[in-house]
Amino acid sequence: MKKAHSVQRRISRSRTAVQRQAHAAPNVVRDRQYVVAANWKMNLTVPDATLLAEKYSAMDVPRSVTTVVCPSFTALIPVRDKIAGTGLNLGAQDVFWETLGAYTGEVSADELLSIGCRYVIIGHSERRRESGETDQIVNRKVFTALGHHLSPILCVGESLEERSMRHHLFTVMRQVQRGLHNVPPPRKGQELVIAYEPIWAISPGGPATPHDAHEMAHMIQHALVDLFGERIVRESTRVLYGGNVTPDNVGTFVDGEFVHGVLVGKDSLKVELFSAILNALKR
Ligand code: PGA
Repeated sequence: MKKAHSVQRRISRSRTAVQRQAHAAPNVVRDRQYVVAANWKMNLTVPDATLLAEKYSAMDVPRSVTTVVCPSFTALIPVRDKIAGTGLNLGAQDVFWETLGAYTGEVSADELLSIGCRYVIIGHSERRRESGETDQIVNRKVFTALGHHLSPILCVGESLEERSMRHHLFTVMRQVQRGLHNVPPPRKGQELVIAYEPIWAISPGGPATPHDAHEMAHMIQHALVDLFGERIVRESTRVLYGGNVTPDNVGTFVDGEFVHGVLVGKDSLKVELFSAILNALKR
């Protein structure tokens, strides 16, 4: 009982510190391009993914948006071929932390780079849940991606239970700090993208409120400044929101101040919806 109280006290102390930080966080990334990443998850066969990529390649993408398409490993090459020359970027949904060797079933950063991937999603809550990915595993993957010219999209987010106990700020702060522990800063041409995706907000749940997203993004940006300094944050990092993003709500999440784009699951599977999301971010 005594122990439970002291843990509770520690958490609420951290929460207060986190809330204080959230108010003090500088706004350092205002005028940069938005990032919109399409996470197709495990929803499409290779022919279906190829067809969707073909439709994507005909979209009118606003100049204010950097778009990243993340199909399954099996569809990376045909999707790359369809989007070649369009300005759309290729991303993978995962990467292994080791770089070479006897790791059956895994895919390395060099393998991804060699087929033209620039981004990689790391630590999605579905991988944390279904494949037991811990913050330590996530950290090794982010480290490897940054060391191999890939731009990680590191996913963080709290469960509904953590939010209802008001531990969400603490949980996400811990995921960010552990996920980025000792990683090198992004180099020229690389970005470090953090996607705040509350688990309860991912469809069929959610979405979160814009206030939830802005508050957390503000705090994450502050943590990034602490880790890398303002210049790196301004030039090479982005914070996204993810969780049931639609054409109707995307504009309420992306404020350019703390939320610099979105990670889209369900609505990235229909080109009309995804294109409407991109166009809502036209400046
Ligand atoms: P959703 O998925 O847009 O379908 O909620 C987002 C994600 O899990 O990346």
